Amino acid sequence: MSEDSQAVSMTINGHVYTGHCEPRLTLADFIRHECGLTGTHLGCEHGVCGACTIIVDGRSTRACLMLAVQADGCVITTVEGLASGAELNPLQEAFWNNHGLQCGFCTPGMLMCATEFLEGNPDPTAQEVRECISGNLCRCTGYDAIVRSVLDAAAELRR
Ligand code: FES
Ligand code: FES
Repeated sequence: MSEDSQAVSMTINGHVYTGHCEPRLTLADFIRHECGLTGTHLGCEHGVCGACTIIVDGRSTRACLMLAVQADGCVITTVEGLASGAELNPLQEAFWNNHGLQCGFCTPGMLMCATEFLEGNPDPTAQEVRECISGNLCRCTGYDAIVRSVLDAAAELRR
């Protein structure tokens, strides 16, 4: 442990994680390497691709742009927090049913972005879904299947 390291503690998916880290460590690296939650992906590492999107205190957040020390005391949800054991949540199920993923690299970020979006807008239009995911890059799907997935999940959640 270096002299600069600082104690951090945060709640991730209902579990408290404590540790020490250097002030320059990103939240994404803390979550992946210190907490072992590798579902949060890293693409560009400068806030462009959205692969690292998680929810911090209720807001979708780029984990590559936040430092771990800034998240001290925060409540965080990562993609690992969506399913209940082996049971996918309705959004994950909709991605599965609509082929909303191919390689899956963008998927954790898409899911977390859409999770926050549907909480605020439970009956969105396709255009609103497109705007929601416009900050998340996908190199495989052409986005249509992702939009269908989010709309299907919204319909399921309204039942
Ligand atoms: Fe964070 Fe690309 S890895 S936005
Ligand atoms: Fe491959 Fe989106 S499914 S990048």
